[in-house]
Amino acid sequence: MTPITIWGTAGRNIPVDSRRPLGGHNVITLVFETGRPARIDRYAESSSGPMGAAARERGIRSAVGTPVIVEGRLWGLIFAGSTLEQPLPPDIETRLASFTELVATAIANAASRASLARLAEEQAALRRVATLVARATPPQVVFAAVAEEAGRLLAVDFAILVRYDPQGTLEVVGTWTRTGAPAPTPVGGRLPLGGRNVTTLVYQTGRPARIDYSDVSGVIGQVASRDWGLRSSIGVPVSAESRLWGCMVVAFSRQGTLPLPADTEAQLAGFTELVATAIANADSRAELMASRARIVAAADETRRRIERDLHDGTQQQLVTVILDLRGVQAAVPPELQGSLSRIAERVTDVLDQVREIARGIHPSILSELGLTRALKALARRSAVPVELDLRTGRRLPGHVEVAAYYAVSEALANAAKHARASVVHVGLDTPDTVVRLAIRDDGIGGADPAGGSGLTGLRDRIEAVGGTFDVTSPADGGTTLLIEIPV
Ligand SMILES: Nc1ncnc2c1ncn2[C@@H]1O[C@H](COP(=O)(O)OP(=O)(O)OP(=O)(O)O)[C@@H](O)[C@H]1O
Ligand SMILES: [Mg+2]
Repeated sequence: MTPITIWGTAGRNIPVDSRRPLGGHNVITLVFETGRPARIDRYAESSSGPMGAAARERGIRSAVGTPVIVEGRLWGLIFAGSTLEQPLPPDIETRLASFTELVATAIANAASRASLARLAEEQAALRRVATLVARATPPQVVFAAVAEEAGRLLAVDFAILVRYDPQGTLEVVGTWTRTGAPAPTPVGGRLPLGGRNVTTLVYQTGRPARIDYSDVSGVIGQVASRDWGLRSSIGVPVSAESRLWGCMVVAFSRQGTLPLPADTEAQLAGFTELVATAIANADSRAELMASRARIVAAADETRRRIERDLHDGTQQQLVTVILDLRGVQAAVPPELQGSLSRIAERVTDVLDQVREIARGIHPSILSELGLTRALKALARRSAVPVELDLRTGRRLPGHVEVAAYYAVSEALANAAKHARASVVHVGLDTPDTVVRLAIRDDGIGGADPAGGSGLTGLRDRIEAVGGTFDVTSPADGGTTLLIEIPV
């Protein structure tokens, strides 16, 4: 028992907040054992146990205790003792009872206010993380936020989020330390599972685990007690799509003296669910991106093959036909030579058309001469005059050059078809890790991706390589495409 407030006339009180064991025959132990008021009139003769001794030392001759019951549970008691010869008055229990009720009500109020406040704090912390998850924030950022929010809410020394690898190791993916000092094992750190420690227990059982660091083993156990200085910790599993994905750990360091409260595991559940959602979201986004990239790549591959077939097959055959025609021209009678020549010219026109089609299907000039030369060729052929501002000389990865080329090609075609523009400005800049394209015409505006498949296809292609695509086209304000592609 712990005395929490004391009033006395003798001046030899038991200090507030000191702890004393129960046991023996005394009113405090009696109330504890029976949950009912208790009275001992002859303390000197008939009391025993530590509390009995403490009362006798202070000259108490008779005493009464009445229980304080808070929400059906024995919470404590009010003790009244007297050093006088005559026993305490017979109605003192009833008179004390009204005080114990007041005390109980006050305690219940304070407790429910505290638990309400804690609930509100928990909700706010979860809401902050949920907002990040809903905004498709990168998982690393969500992991760090989860560690911090859980750590602060539970008022622990450390909060650590780890992911299990198939090779039987764990990877630290989020950390928070109360002091703000860097985590002894930083994000990205890997440790082999095994031995007795909280993360290995969770890995093996798929269930929450608690551990006291007087008894740990394995590399993780060593690191946790030596580097982190952990004293006690709790781990709860994080499952994503019904698979054990990782573990959320909260812990106290050696300096701490508090045990982790019993409902810690339950409080962590909300956070681990949010982690699972963030992972599932990120996974499906990554899958979506990958499948988009595969579709674009497959389509490009087909176009490249058709272009090669046209080049090596149809175009070569037409060239041979033209040469043959020129060859027989001298041998035929002069009256036929004119018609033969016209046939050869028509076949040459067909060859030019096939070349043009092949170029539209796949710009082989791109792989041969690079983006800058290919864009210059596009500009030369454009029906609308083009101003080029190309601030780059370096070669870029193939998929980036192809994406940039198609963007300019589609923009020039649109300007010619729809814009009634007098000029198109094409700006290309390639600072460190990004390609920036700005294509602007001075036409009638009103470009709308929903009105055709060209702009939508372009957006797909750019986003598939992780880029961004933006169209602004106010009426009479011309059309601007802004494109950024990461390199
Ligand atoms: N530069 C522009 N100026 C004015 N209107 C434009 C411009 N670019 C596009 N538009 C309008 O937006 C619509 C959609 O363009 P988009 O390129 O997606 O399709 P499209 O050019 O009509 O057909 P395609 O599938 O062959 O490209 C066009 O039909 C046109 O009305
Ligand atoms: Mg178009």
